[in-house]
Amino acid sequence: MLAIEKSELPVNGTNPIQAMFNAVAPRYDLLNRLLSIGYDRHWRKAAVREFESVENKKYLDVATGTADIALEIAKRHPKPSQIVGMDFSISMLKLGHKKISTNHFGKGIKLIPGAAENIPLKDHTFDGAITAFGVRNFLDAKQGLREMYRILKPNGKIVVLEFSFPKKGLLNRLYRLYFEKILPLLGRIISGHKSAYSYLPASVANFPQGEAFNEILECSGFKSVSFKPLTLGIVTLYTGIKNA
Ligand SMILES: C[S@@+](CC[C@H](N)C(=O)[O-])C[C@H]1O[C@@H](n2cnc3c(N)ncnc32)[C@H](O)[C@@H]1O
Repeated sequence: MLAIEKSELPVNGTNPIQAMFNAVAPRYDLLNRLLSIGYDRHWRKAAVREFESVENKKYLDVATGTADIALEIAKRHPKPSQIVGMDFSISMLKLGHKKISTNHFGKGIKLIPGAAENIPLKDHTFDGAITAFGVRNFLDAKQGLREMYRILKPNGKIVVLEFSFPKKGLLNRLYRLYFEKILPLLGRIISGHKSAYSYLPASVANFPQGEAFNEILECSGFKSVSFKPLTLGIVTLYTGIKNA
């Protein structure tokens, strides 16, 4: 059972998911590092490596949060790549602003407010679109993916990073014990938010993984879709291409 029912969310204005991310923003980065024992950095790097390192490219990071993916793209890609990070949580964006203004690689990054279901950017503009740990939270994941398709140039690439569960067996049981029992407890103590870190495992359990998510990418228009499990399958990296 989700702690916050996404069906309650209005597309515009403040909604429970927005409110939740606004509330956990101050401890978000700390909890990421702690709860993933530093692996979150490795996953983001792996996701950004999916984009070719070529000059003059434009990238959109949807649900950018505190801009870790946007900064990773800036580090990896030569100037003058343009990077836009978008999120509907103003508190996350404020922390992202702080980070990019004090980071040597932050100059080419612009952060904007916006909802994934209605991206406030023009059609056929970006070479790459990425969302890390974002799509599972969208009010309407299919609509968000269609929007990412719309803003991509023909042959543009989508990269999606999302939590998943290891295949059945002992590893699955051990990981679920950590993810569903220990993580919510630590998350609640450190963030001070009573439901955000119970929402996390519940939202992963309710979200399509592997082939099922690839089918959604295909339904949103993408071709050549593929997926790659990382770290024993606790995270999965999906890619797809917009038709020429
Ligand atoms: C788990 S965080 C991930 C942040 C970042 N991508 C990262 O790798 O750390 C999820 C982010 O998605 C944002 N988000 C969730 N639903 C959204 C939506 N429909 N439109 C825009 N942002 C959304 C939240 O505000 C939050 O910052």
